[in-house]
Amino acid sequence: MQANLAKHWSLLQQHAERLKSQPLRDLFAADAERFSQFSVHLDDLLMDFSKEKIDQAALTALLQLAQAAQVEARRDAMVQGEKINSTEQRAVLHMALRDGIPAGVQVDGQDVLKEVAAVRGRFLDFAEAVRTGAYKTVSGQAFTDVVNIGIGGSDLGPVMVTTALAPWHDGPAVHFVSNVDGAHSVDTLKGLNPQTTLVIVASKTFTTAETMLNFSTALAWLKASLGEQAGQHVAAVSTNLAATRSYGIEDTRVFGFWDWVGGRYSVWSAIGLPVAIAVGKQAFTEFLAGAKAMDEHFRSAPLAQNLPVLFALLGIWRRNLLQYPTVALIPYDQHLARFPAYVQQLDMESNGKRVQLDGSPIQTSTGPVIWGEPGTNAQHSFFQLIHQGSEVIPVDFLAAANPSSQSEFADLELHHETLLTNVLAQAQALAFGRDAEAVRVDLQAAGLSAVQIEALVTHRTFPGDRPSTLMLYRQLTPYTLGRLVALFEHKVFVQGVIWGVNSYDQWGVELGKKLANVLAPALHDRTVPAGVDASTAGLLQHIHALRA
Ligand code: F6P
Repeated sequence: MQANLAKHWSLLQQHAERLKSQPLRDLFAADAERFSQFSVHLDDLLMDFSKEKIDQAALTALLQLAQAAQVEARRDAMVQGEKINSTEQRAVLHMALRDGIPAGVQVDGQDVLKEVAAVRGRFLDFAEAVRTGAYKTVSGQAFTDVVNIGIGGSDLGPVMVTTALAPWHDGPAVHFVSNVDGAHSVDTLKGLNPQTTLVIVASKTFTTAETMLNFSTALAWLKASLGEQAGQHVAAVSTNLAATRSYGIEDTRVFGFWDWVGGRYSVWSAIGLPVAIAVGKQAFTEFLAGAKAMDEHFRSAPLAQNLPVLFALLGIWRRNLLQYPTVALIPYDQHLARFPAYVQQLDMESNGKRVQLDGSPIQTSTGPVIWGEPGTNAQHSFFQLIHQGSEVIPVDFLAAANPSSQSEFADLELHHETLLTNVLAQAQALAFGRDAEAVRVDLQAAGLSAVQIEALVTHRTFPGDRPSTLMLYRQLTPYTLGRLVALFEHKVFVQGVIWGVNSYDQWGVELGKKLANVLAPALHDRTVPAGVDASTAGLLQHIHALRA
């Protein structure tokens, strides 16, 4: 814990103790203005947090914590290009990718916005050329399919955004290969024609083992059909231009980005190329504009009205004060089906840390486990546990007031009304539950005997008092998606500042990579390395036997 924050944490603990014994039902009964007091909006995008176990005094204490942690100063340092990623000595400027920082910011003597504009112009032009057929296959046709090969931030952003913007998808079909499991390549490539497929290899470092192996498989697949001309069906996105050259990828089809863009913050850069090919320049530009609007709000709104700041503080309240270890992220929006997976990397790779910036251990809990699936499907799977399980799991709901799909289906409005009634009902059930008396009344009305009722009553009681926040927006457009993603990015930043961690490194993924390199020869040569632990040795022997 940062020493100067101790008194704020202890005040917050007192508020948490006080509020633990005040059910949400009572908080609502005591305050007719609860909804307007505990909701904020940016244009149509509303965040309703009235169903969180919070009151004005606790919220004020949280805002004081943010102030004491110097959230605003750290935000301004990030925006000005200071090297706040201290363990890698890097600036953190994903906001620049959507023009969300002021003009003139420089990193190492380079004007950031100018560089961004130059590369953006190139990759959007290339995307348009692929879409219109101006950039042709070796046999002079238009590309029908694009395969993006990448993993982590070089995959999840493009997958999530392409899925989210399905109604805008009017370009070539876009496919994704990420897993080093050969099944992913096989299943994806087997339905495609190499004569009309463009492969994009996306890797910030261009050294990620999975991506390099998947790329070599795809290249061999292209070469088997196109011979030496296969390279014309390859484009690359990377910060490592020396490496893309060493693979013989022509510079005109290589789109760079910068070490001040973290992989999980990179979908706004040329990493978004497959998205731009799918939905086109205009929709991609609107996606950037939405994020920029959220950036401007984040940079200028007072803390008490600042959506990302409030969202972050609610997360701190849930995690550190009420001590809930996980968060369910449930979009009532089928197009956001991959949003939970995207936010898992964004949040857990950023704030899954246990030491502070100065290397000393953190005294508080940090990033929660994020998980989720779209509603209403989630209701018919794990919501039982969320409603009646032994742990409290706060929920973040997302929902649009209007459908984003256009269709001739007469029932589309009815589908959407049903979706919305469900998200509202779930949030109500979580907050207010159903007590034993109400259950008895229901069962009596259903004609059950007194004995039957008493046998069922505890099973059918809902404890309630389970918190949720709802993000509600007019429609899931590219602009709104941009705002939502930037909202989550800035939330992660604010929480990282309060916990005092570096949200922009990811050393935790390195050890496994190293050990895999050591074990690779053992798998290949079917040996057991000397000195390896007994469990791994036993597993290797078993694998060797099963492969024989
Ligand atoms: O798994 C760790 C990680 O470094 C992520 O942070 C990153 O998004 C992913 O691997 C892919 O890295 P790259 O784009 O360099 O291939």
